[in-house]
Amino acid sequence: MKPTERMEKIVSLCKRRGFIFQSSEIYGGINGFWDYGPLGAELKRNVKELWWKSMTKMREDIVGLDASIIMHPAIWKASGHCDTFADPMVDCLLTKKRLRADQIEPQSGVAYFWSGAKDEASGKELCEPFSALLAPGKPAESARKVATQFYSQRGLQNVALLGERTEKVENSTSYNPENGALLTEPRMFNLMFKSHAGPVESEENAVYLRPETAQAIFVQFKNVLETSRQKVPFGIAQIGKAFRNEINPRNYTFRSREFEQMELEFFIKPDEVVEKQCGSVASLPENGAPTDPPQANWGWEVWHGYWVEQRMRWYESIGLTRDTLEQYWQKKEELAHYARATVDILYKFPFGTQELEGIAARGNFDLTQHQTHSGKSMEYFDQEATAKYIPHVIEPSAGVDRLLLALICNAYAEEEVTDEKGKAEVRTVMRFHPRVAPIKVGIFPLLKNKPVLVEKAIAVRDLLRPFMNVFYDDAGAIGRRYRRQDEAGTPFGVTIDFDTIGENGPELEGTVTLRHRDSMKQERVKISDLLSILLPQVQ
Ligand code: GAP
Repeated sequence: MKPTERMEKIVSLCKRRGFIFQSSEIYGGINGFWDYGPLGAELKRNVKELWWKSMTKMREDIVGLDASIIMHPAIWKASGHCDTFADPMVDCLLTKKRLRADQIEPQSGVAYFWSGAKDEASGKELCEPFSALLAPGKPAESARKVATQFYSQRGLQNVALLGERTEKVENSTSYNPENGALLTEPRMFNLMFKSHAGPVESEENAVYLRPETAQAIFVQFKNVLETSRQKVPFGIAQIGKAFRNEINPRNYTFRSREFEQMELEFFIKPDEVVEKQCGSVASLPENGAPTDPPQANWGWEVWHGYWVEQRMRWYESIGLTRDTLEQYWQKKEELAHYARATVDILYKFPFGTQELEGIAARGNFDLTQHQTHSGKSMEYFDQEATAKYIPHVIEPSAGVDRLLLALICNAYAEEEVTDEKGKAEVRTVMRFHPRVAPIKVGIFPLLKNKPVLVEKAIAVRDLLRPFMNVFYDDAGAIGRRYRRQDEAGTPFGVTIDFDTIGENGPELEGTVTLRHRDSMKQERVKISDLLSILLPQVQ
């Protein structure tokens, strides 16, 4: 299957089965915004809960935070977002479409230039220059057509183009790849959504929807430190919405304008303090992946390697195997000025290998900035090291929506199977890891018009549902019901049949058929064993 065809099928399944809907669909949708339907909402909740559990509940050294989306605007000045959180944008002179300048594919061809145009009917002349790029193999008339449209939009009717000249161009990003029309010069466009707090729409009341969750963690560093009785090294984790007015939202939910982040700021001692305390600073092990338990002599480099490895392991634990991921170590010249190292964890999406998470060693840039701008000390007194310092930070920052898209792309499979009557058919199956699967178990009474079967099936449903998400389905042939749950990614199916109620011998009474989604194998298990079989697999 071609990647574009695969992506189309995934998008169609997401809508059909209620994973993802276009936001405001009945009004024609809104670019860059998405809603999660019943299955998508469960999947998202599972992912966030697993991240939260692995970060806060399973560790002694990380605590949580849930901060407000709108914060004091001075935060964004201190963090650098007001001045530098911008992308270069260009506008198409013909269609007014706005594009990100750094995402335009370089093009070669013949550039046509005109000094202006004349309206042959009225004699009116317009001295506004225009240019269009003619791609190789296309007739010159197509460039002239673009120019004619441009001048028509400016009020000329029978357009006669003036002062035509041509020039060969190589690898130019000055033209719209969709129609060849000239683009404006790049201008920087700040990605923060702006609003006003209170009834007056003045600059003094301007506020921003947070473009990342991280800054709230930095500004609450002291409060959390004092109330949680943590000691450096320790971390603060947060999950929440972030907003970026992306110029060009694309690739389905991959680049959205509203999305969720799962961010950890892990505060560490500066290397010189580690050295003073331990005599030396440990270097990275040869495999580059230090593991638990963390050691007192770890400096930023080892902590950074540790978090890269921890995050890779977490992705594996929810079904993204290492061969589906890549690590991209940013080159020196690509690093933000305050970053010492940044590793991007990438997933091989059908539309290309793209970033899921960034893990940055940010030095003490953020806390220092907030100390300077707020006038409040961000220093920490380290009793063990008898030293006062502003902690440094390692930041693993992941996108929930991108991860959901990766899990959905990873799960999607089509395979040829034969049905009960021996007929070949294509089975669409979402192979979610049981931990993230939206529904864990489908519960099926074999026949819905047999009260004894229905009663027993409801009892099994009630037994399991306090512990996991189950779906009760009594509609249609059992094979159809299995297929419906395959498409939803439900890893287990439990069928209550005549064996269950002892009609085929007392030895089978109280047993059910447990069907496994991936192998489609079925086994007979006791109802009393169901919880102990299923629970460890879905938790
Ligand atoms: N605090 C650091 C930070 O925000 P980032 O690389 O800009 O770093 C972190 O964002 C993660 O947030 C990305 O790896 C990605 O998963 C997610 N993300 C960023 N922009 C996004 C967008 N427009 N749509 C969906 N997810 C996005």
